[in-house]
Amino acid sequence: MAHITWKPGTMLYPVPAVLITSSFQGRDNVCTVSWIGTVCTEPPMIGISLRPERYTYELIKKSKEFVVNIPDKKLVKAVDFCGVRSGKKYDKFAIAHLTRLQAEKVKAPLIAECPISIECKVIKILNLGSHHQFIGKVLLVHVDDALLDKRGALHLERAGLLCYNHGFYCAVDKQIGKFGFSVKKRTKEKTKSTLR
Ligand SMILES: Cc1cc2nc3c(=O)[nH]c(=O)nc-3n(C[C@H](O)[C@H](O)[C@H](O)COP(=O)(O)O)c2cc1C
Repeated sequence: MAHITWKPGTMLYPVPAVLITSSFQGRDNVCTVSWIGTVCTEPPMIGISLRPERYTYELIKKSKEFVVNIPDKKLVKAVDFCGVRSGKKYDKFAIAHLTRLQAEKVKAPLIAECPISIECKVIKILNLGSHHQFIGKVLLVHVDDALLDKRGALHLERAGLLCYNHGFYCAVDKQIGKFGFSVKKRTKEKTKSTLR
């Protein structure tokens, strides 16, 4: 494999493409965000980076709250639309056929069509340059119960999620390994069969 070098740029892919909902004094909005990640496990925290010119930035800066809605691949057109049009001019919920649901801990709405929604409260804002990162403490997680098995275990592989990969939306729907499987002890039977 021959490697070439490029000047510094954003090249961490694939990344999520989520729908961030926000609300302040009766105005609400939905916006696509890919510069997002889990930044702490205990307490659980999510960081989202926004340009100050976004309408979403204004609403979150004022309300100190947001909801991360994880879309499935059926919502790919809505995801793109909410990332290329601003709530300053458009009612993106109506145009993209997204249904608001009331959240429990924050004023920003959940999106009914998304299998997972995460309510967050902003605890820190970092001015990083082009983007400011909002660190949100997770207050509550909503999960579509159709993704749970009889024992209550979550099967996220059944959700048909999507990701953003350097300008393209891709489906995330095939499992190719399980956490820790590379070091898991094999049973005698399995070891025999791989040696054959
Ligand atoms: C796939 C995708 C990912 C995006 N990620 C971000 C992001 O992480 N941060 C950001 O500020 N804008 C991001 N954008 C751009 C905003 O979603 C876009 O400017 C949107 O129109 C802002 O909406 P608003 O003004 O209603 O908040 C992204 C757009 C797309 C299509």
